[in-house]
Formats: sequence, structure tokens, C-alpha cells
Amino acid sequence: MDRRHRDDSADNGGDANGQREKRPRPAPRAISAAEIAEEFAHHDSSVARINNGSFGSCPASVLAAQRSWQLQFLRQPDEFYFNRLQPGLFHSRALVKEIINAADVDEVALVDNATTAAAIVLQHASWAFAEGAFRKGDAVVMLHYAYGAVKKSIHAYVARAGGHVIEVPLPFPVSSNEEIVREFRKTLELGKANGRRVRLAVIDHVTSMPSVVIPVKELTRICREEGVDQVFVDAAHAIGSVEVDVQDIGADFYTSNLHKWFFCPPSVAFLYTNKSSASSCLHHPVVSHEYGNGLPLESGWIGTRDYSSQLVVPSVMEFIGRFEGGIEGIRKRNHEKVVEMGKMLAEAWGTFLGSPPEMCCSMIMVGLPGCLRVSSEKDAMKLRSFLREKFKVEVPIYYQPPKDGEVLEKDGNNCVTGYVRISHTVYNAEGDYHRLRDAVHNLVADGYNCDMLSSK
Ligand SMILES: Cc1ncc(COP(=O)(O)O)c(C=O)c1O
Repeated sequence: MDRRHRDDSADNGGDANGQREKRPRPAPRAISAAEIAEEFAHHDSSVARINNGSFGSCPASVLAAQRSWQLQFLRQPDEFYFNRLQPGLFHSRALVKEIINAADVDEVALVDNATTAAAIVLQHASWAFAEGAFRKGDAVVMLHYAYGAVKKSIHAYVARAGGHVIEVPLPFPVSSNEEIVREFRKTLELGKANGRRVRLAVIDHVTSMPSVVIPVKELTRICREEGVDQVFVDAAHAIGSVEVDVQDIGADFYTSNLHKWFFCPPSVAFLYTNKSSASSCLHHPVVSHEYGNGLPLESGWIGTRDYSSQLVVPSVMEFIGRFEGGIEGIRKRNHEKVVEMGKMLAEAWGTFLGSPPEMCCSMIMVGLPGCLRVSSEKDAMKLRSFLREKFKVEVPIYYQPPKDGEVLEKDGNNCVTGYVRISHTVYNAEGDYHRLRDAVHNLVADGYNCDMLSSK
């Protein structure tokens, strides 16, 4: 009888024939509301924080794990550098590989954030223009609602190198994927006009502002049919808020932050590169000792710095494992709750949602009463600051110019030009959304509109 068998019998007992009865292991106890509150006790409890989308959130247990990695480095940096850093990063990459269903861990690099990932892909495109693989005037396509910083990156790297940048206009409010697909196809046609080639399509998985889930798999398939050379999916919000299967989506490059909806500390993202793609030789813009050894290794040492946010993925998995259904369960509950809260707000304010529920993830857009007269991006920012300062509500606001023919009526409620983007994640409670509802009701009842708010 080996030691393991003895231990098992001792635990489970056995009958006269030595047959051991299999006792089911007790299911791990799901995390309680009090434990969740403890994990996020470092949040400012006076604020209704319904903007997880911008910066994400990190629980105390993961912050403790991060601190422990930092101390390991500080205790004996040389030993850490030679023996622990790379195995630790490999472990995190291997976990990410499983979650996103990549074919190989070498397809997964860890980088600082989605902005860095975009720079890596776009730098690669700019070299293709500079070295003659792409012809000057060849097109790069991006969504009109691409993230502002990524748009600037496209201009900085690609337009400057001779690429012709074309935006896909997207309707908002949006009511179906077909509307998006139609506009995308039209823009690809435009991109291919005059014998031009479309070299790169940059497609968001979840747009930031306004927030809409984009049918990336279908758009990627269309790109393949239409001969687009490369597809880069900017999925900064994806992991933890939508299902991610990179093989199924089929893009060349795909990035998601891990610090938004996946509970990593700021900041870490993965950049997936399909190894069968012709252009898998990306480089990190910060060149160091590992240059030429593949992006995952290049990214694993970009000089002396703190790598702890990249090393805590196993601890994040532990945290997520305390929730019923793991990350899938969290994702599903966040979606259901954000839709419920969005509908509650729209009904209370007499407005509507910016997209059908199936086109949103853990964030949803809700129209603000037209009488608040949000008439510019500056107004949207003024109103956001006012909600923060006067009502302690943190929520981003989007300005949508009126469509042709629509006029902003002075006291009317029927022309919606401002939308809140509400988020839901594990630490949120219904009271957060009630506070927003009541704050807006107060403003309306007091006759406030954006013209009356100071712009400090
Ligand atoms: C679609 C999209 N892309 C890129 C980013 C940039 O993310 P980060 O600031 O973490 O680099 C964001 C941030 O919200 C985003 O929403």
C-alpha cells in the first residue's frame, strides 16, 4: 500500500473488502458579499463607481500577491532575474493562452497595455510601408469609433509612412449587427478604389465610446474574403467581458487589457499574434537584450522595471475561481445586471438604450434626458465633472451630435444627444445606479442644463 493510498483510506474510510466509498468533495464555498466588499475595501466608499470600463479594478488579494512579487525582486534581484522572472511570465502567458484558446503559448506576449499593443502592430505596418512591402497610398481601415489614442497611433505610424487611412462610419444608436456589417463592406469597397489595396483593418471588439460589441468574427471573415492583408482586433475591454476565442475569430493580431475586466493590477495586456500569419515577426518598440527572439521574449525584458502586474495572473485565477461559474459566471451576471440597470435608468428618464442588450457586454449606453442639453463634448465633460463633484457618481458621458433635421428643443426631452456609459462588475450594487438616476432627476427637476454648468 503506497503512501497516497494510505492517506486516501484514512480520509475516506473503506469497507470490509477494501472498497473505498467515494465521498464527494464539498463544493468550494462561493465568495460572499462581505468578502467581495473586503476585497475592494480600498475603493472610495463615498463614490458610486459605475465606470469600471475606464480603468478596471483590482482586489486586495491580488494586490497582496503583487506586493509579494515585488518583494521577491527587491530581496534578491539577481536571483529573481536569473531564476524566477521568466518562469513566472511563462506561467502567466500559459494561463492566458488557455483562456483565449490560442494554439500556442508562443502566440501570447504580455505588454503594458492595449496602447502599447497597438503601437507594436502599427509600427510593424509602418515598416512595411517604409521597406516597400506596402505601397504608398495603400489603405488602412479603422472604425470611426476606434479608441482616440489608437486613432492617433494609426496616424502617427501609418499615415505618416504613406498609408491612406479610411474610417468606417458607424450608426449610433445602433440596432443590429447588419448595420455595422453594411457600413464595413462599403468602406472596404472605398478602400479598394483606384486599384488600392487594403493592407490593415483595425477593428474594435468592444468600442469604448459609445460602447458597442462589434461582430469581429464576421468582419474578420469579410476582410479575408476581400483580400485585406492583416486584421488587428483592438479588444481592450474584451477579456472578462465578452467571450474570447482567438482561433475562432481568426484575426492576425488581437489584444486585450487584463487590468480592465480581469482584475489584474494596472497595467497589463496580452497581445496575441497568429503564428500562421505571414506577418508574425512583430517587435517591441522598446528594444533590449531579447531583440530578435520573438515578441513574447522581447516583451519579457524591456529593461529594469516592475513586472509584477504581469506575474499575478495565477492569483487572479484564484480570485476568479471563488465566483460561481468563474469568469464566465462573472461575465454573464455583469451583462444581465448592466442591462437591467440600463433599462431601469432609461425608463426612469423617459429615454432609451444606445444598442439592443445583445450588442453590449458589461457596459451599456443609456440616453440622458434631452432637456439637459448636452450640446458638445465639452458639455459632456462638464456634466460628468458635476455628477462627480456634487453627487459622487463616476460615469462617463458621450455626446452624439443631432442627426440631420433634428433640432435641440429648448425644453424638449425628445432629442437625446447625451448618453451615460454604465459599467457593472462584481463590486457594484443597485444603489450605485439609483444614485445616478436620482442625481439626473434632481438636475431635471431643478431646471439645470449644460449651459448653466461652469467648465472648470
Ligand atoms: C478600445 C480601446 N482601445 C484601447 C484602449 C487603451 O487602453 P490602455 O489605456 O489600457 O492602453 C482603451 C481604453 O479604454 C479602449 O477602450
